[in-house]
Amino acid sequence: MSSTYGTNLKLTLFGESHGAGIGCVLDGFPAGFRPDFEAISSFMARRAPGSTPGSTARREADTPEIVSGIFDGRTTGSPITALIRNADHHSSDYADLAAIPRPGHADYALAVKTGGANDIRGGGHSSGRLTAGLCFAGGLAMQFLETRGVRISSRIVAIGGREVKGETDATGLDAAARETIEAARRDGDSVGGIVECTVEGLPAGFGDPMFDGVENRFAAIVFGIPAVKGVEFGSGFAGAALRGSQNNDPFYFDEAGEVRTRTNNHGGALGGITSGMPIVFRAAIKPTPSIAKPQQSVNLRTGEPCELVVKGRHDACIVPRARPVIEAAAAVAALDLLHAPATQTCFRQD
Ligand SMILES: Cc1cc2nc3c(=O)[nH]c(=O)nc-3n(C[C@H](O)[C@H](O)[C@H](O)COP(=O)(O)O)c2cc1C
Repeated sequence: MSSTYGTNLKLTLFGESHGAGIGCVLDGFPAGFRPDFEAISSFMARRAPGSTPGSTARREADTPEIVSGIFDGRTTGSPITALIRNADHHSSDYADLAAIPRPGHADYALAVKTGGANDIRGGGHSSGRLTAGLCFAGGLAMQFLETRGVRISSRIVAIGGREVKGETDATGLDAAARETIEAARRDGDSVGGIVECTVEGLPAGFGDPMFDGVENRFAAIVFGIPAVKGVEFGSGFAGAALRGSQNNDPFYFDEAGEVRTRTNNHGGALGGITSGMPIVFRAAIKPTPSIAKPQQSVNLRTGEPCELVVKGRHDACIVPRARPVIEAAAAVAALDLLHAPATQTCFRQD
């Protein structure tokens, strides 16, 4: 099993939800960069439990301890390791799950894969908590990208099948979305949603055709976020219903003489390569699998069907907390891409 992403900038996430700690190792980050750690903490706070309505009651300080790669406030160019110690966990809530897997969670598949050697407590290595390390790495990458004119933003497009179109709060929810989440929570249930992320300022010419394209690289890291079940770029699935004349993005020269497109149905990638237009993608996040309602499962020890009531503290909707994680993932993918050679020409003057 591997929890490493990237080619030029390599990110490894480590730890288990109820172990000693979680964190990340970021290898290949440029030397001499002075991170704003307060800004990284504020960014990580957007993902932390308790930051949004309907969010889990688990409390964690989530303060990253820098173990390596930063000296005198500057990156050294060697691997950056951030450790976030675990504190507020109730492992007894998970005692039954070794025998009775939660529908929709990773318990069953991981038990099969590891022969039962996985750490079941709090979802172990598959817990959403692991995304704190991703947010540290992404927060750092985002700051570096800003110095290169690359900006990342996101918005919540839908919650529980309803479009978010009213005035939104800091977490990206409007009043109707908050009510949808609250109604699910009251029912002992959960809802999912869709987040749209935009990466502006990436120059044209980065990425490769076929298997190492822009979409491939972004999708690989975004699908690494637990509960993401769909990723689409530009007009995505809706584009399949359009005609070519509607879906093609006409080219033009802007005031600076740069080639741009009038629309961005291609989502910033053509043939796996950046076009210079913003990369726009949407991620579908499923409803939180751990719900309070009784569910049908099986007892792997006795071989009997059974009813499961999941204990522990779980978000009725993880979408607002997943939103900064998606931005973080986009930042790591964008920086990995920027480190790669861009336009290659066959007309070299030696
Ligand atoms: C920020 C975040 C928090 C999450 N919190 C929970 C949670 O409290 N309870 C839960 O059952 N799943 C939670 N998840 C989702 C599960 O970890 C995920 O659904 C599970 O590992 C199965 O993976 P899959 O949905 O990608 O197939 C969370 C995910 C994220 C990104």
